[in-house]
Amino acid sequence: MCGIIGVTGDDGALEVIIDGLHRLEYRGYDSAGVATVRGDGLWRARAADGTHSVEALVTATAGCGGDRTGIGHTRWATHGGPTVENAHPHVDCTGRIALVHNGIIENHAELADALAGAGHRFSSQTDTEVLVHLLETEVAGGAALGDALRAVMSRAVGAYSVVAISADDPELVVAGRRSVPLLVANDDGAGFVASDVSALLGRATRYFALEDDQVAEVRPASLRVTDPDGAEAEPTALSVDPAWDVVAAQKGGYDDFMSKEMHEQPRAIEDTLFDRRDHDGSLVLDELHLGPDDLRAVDKVVVVACGSSYHAGMVAKYAIERWARLPTEVEIASEFRYREPVLHERTLVIGVSQSGETLDTLEALREARRAGTRTLVVSNVVHATMAREADGALYTRAGPEIGVASTKCHVAQIVALEVLALALAQWRGTLGRPAVSLLFDQLHELPELVEETLGRSKEVEAVAAALGGARDYFFIGRHLGYPVALEGALKLKEISYLRAEGYPAGELKHGPLALIEPGTVVVALLDPLREKMTSNVAEAAARGATVVALASDGTPEVAGLAGVEHVLHVPAVPEPMFAPAVQVVPLQLLAYALARRLGNDVDRPRNLAKTVTVE
Ligand code: M6R
Repeated sequence: MCGIIGVTGDDGALEVIIDGLHRLEYRGYDSAGVATVRGDGLWRARAADGTHSVEALVTATAGCGGDRTGIGHTRWATHGGPTVENAHPHVDCTGRIALVHNGIIENHAELADALAGAGHRFSSQTDTEVLVHLLETEVAGGAALGDALRAVMSRAVGAYSVVAISADDPELVVAGRRSVPLLVANDDGAGFVASDVSALLGRATRYFALEDDQVAEVRPASLRVTDPDGAEAEPTALSVDPAWDVVAAQKGGYDDFMSKEMHEQPRAIEDTLFDRRDHDGSLVLDELHLGPDDLRAVDKVVVVACGSSYHAGMVAKYAIERWARLPTEVEIASEFRYREPVLHERTLVIGVSQSGETLDTLEALREARRAGTRTLVVSNVVHATMAREADGALYTRAGPEIGVASTKCHVAQIVALEVLALALAQWRGTLGRPAVSLLFDQLHELPELVEETLGRSKEVEAVAAALGGARDYFFIGRHLGYPVALEGALKLKEISYLRAEGYPAGELKHGPLALIEPGTVVVALLDPLREKMTSNVAEAAARGATVVALASDGTPEVAGLAGVEHVLHVPAVPEPMFAPAVQVVPLQLLAYALARRLGNDVDRPRNLAKTVTVE
C-alpha cells in the first residue's frame, strides 16, 4: 500500500522523486521520505505530517537537489506508528545503504532478534528495517547489491516490494518484489522503479513489470533482471494506456479528485461500453480471452472482491443469475481463500478490482487457479498483476482513479459486470439476441442519466446541510438497493468518519432497529420493492429516525410517505437491473457534501490507502 519510486541517471532525481511521491500519495500518506546518493555518501530527508506528509517533505527538501540517484517512499503505516523515525527510507548501521519497502515482512520479529544478536542497531518499530540490516550483512560478506537483495528476499517471508541504493555503487538502484506490484522503466540515459505507472508518466518510454521474486538492477543505461537463482530473466514489457496520461491524473479545475472523478462517471460508462457490439448485433468482449465454448461450460460463478468492488460484485450476482441463469456467489476476497471453497473446472471465478493489485483479491484468484478453475478479472488497470495472471480480463475504462473513495471505477465495474452478464446469457442461450440487444441499448442510456443525476447536486447539498450534526447513519435497501445501500454507507464512513451501516431493509427489525433513536439518519432506497420499503421506512420513522428517501422521478406519493423528511430524486432508469449505477450517485454526492462540511480531505481519508497490498 505504500508508494515507492527510484531514479538513476537523472540530474533532477530529487525533483522526479518528489513529483512521483505526489502522484503516489493515494497509496499512503502517513509519512514520506527520500534518500539520494550525494558526494561519497547518502543524504536523507523524511517527514510525517498526517495527510500532508508529502507537502512537509517538499518543505524539508527545499533548495536541495543535484543528485542523480535516489529513492522515495510514501507510507501507509502497518508496523509502527506514523512517525518520522518509522518513515522510509531506512538505512543500515553504516549509513551507506538506504531502502524503501511496501508490504509486510511476516517473519520480521525472528529476523530482528537474530540481527540484534549479531550487533545491529534498530532505530524504528517497522518490519522494514530488518531488510536493510540483512542487506548490510550480505554486502559486508562481499555480495554485490543485486545478489544481496536476492539473498535477502530468500529469507524474508511475506508479500512485499523493496528498492535500495548504496553509496558504494552510486548509479545503481536495485528492486525486487513478491506478490505486490513493482515496475521498472527506462528512457535514454535514465532508469526508474515505481510501484505504479502513474509515478512515471511522461518520464519513461519503456515500462516493464517485474514478476514475483525477480530482482532488477537498474542503471542509467542498462536494466538487468534476474530470477531467484540468479539466471538472467526477461521482464514483461508493458504498453502504457494513452488514456492514462499526466493530464488525466490531475484535478482539471475541480477542488479535488473525488469531485472530478464523480463527474467523469458518464464518460467512464461510455468508454466501458464502447465497441462491445459486433456488426451483427451480438456482444463481443475481445480482451476476455475466454471463448463462448469456455463460458458455455461454466456451471457456477464465484465473484471475489473487496470494498466497493465487492458491492459491484453483488450487483453482478443479480444480473448473472437473472439473465444467464447461473448460480452466482459473491464473497469478500479475504474470507474466500481461508474457507476451503468448493471449486472445480466448471466454476468461473471473477475477481473485481479497480487496481488489479489488491492482495486479498489477488490471493483469492490464485487460490482459485490452484483449484483448477478458470479465472477472470474485471480491472481498471491494464497489465495489473491480476490481469496478467488471470485467464481472461474485462477492463473498465474509467481512466486513473486517484481519490481513495472509489466512484467512477465502481460505476464502471457495475456496467462492465452487467455487460458480462449479458454476454454470458447470449452465449448460454438464456436470452435471445433481440433481448440482449435491447438491454445493451438501454445500458447506453446510463451516461445521460448519470449526468442528469450529477446535475442535481444542489438538492443533495441542501439535504446534507439539513442533516447538520447527525453522527449515526443507516443506509437501507432491498434486492439491488441493498448493494447500493452498502456502497452509500461505505462512502460516507470512509470520507466523513461518521458511523454508517448498510443493511438489507428487511433485516433492521432483526436487531439494528434497537439502535434507531431520534437523531439517527436512515437513508432508504425506495426502489426496488417499494411497498416493502415503505413499511421499513415507517418502522424507522416511528422510532424517531430522520428519513432521507431516495426515489425515482415519477413517484409523487413519496413526499406524503409517513416519516420521510427529505427526498433525493433520481431519474427513472429504463431497466431496473441498471438502476444501481444511477442510484449510487446521490449517495456519493451526499458523502462528499457531508465530508466537505466537516472540513475533511476527501481524497486522502485518514488511515486509508487507495491500493491495498497487505492482507
Ligand atoms: O482496487 P480494488 O478495487 O481491489 O480495491 C478494493 C477496495 O480496497 C476499495 O474498493 C475500497 O473499498 C475503496 N476505498 C472504496 O471506496
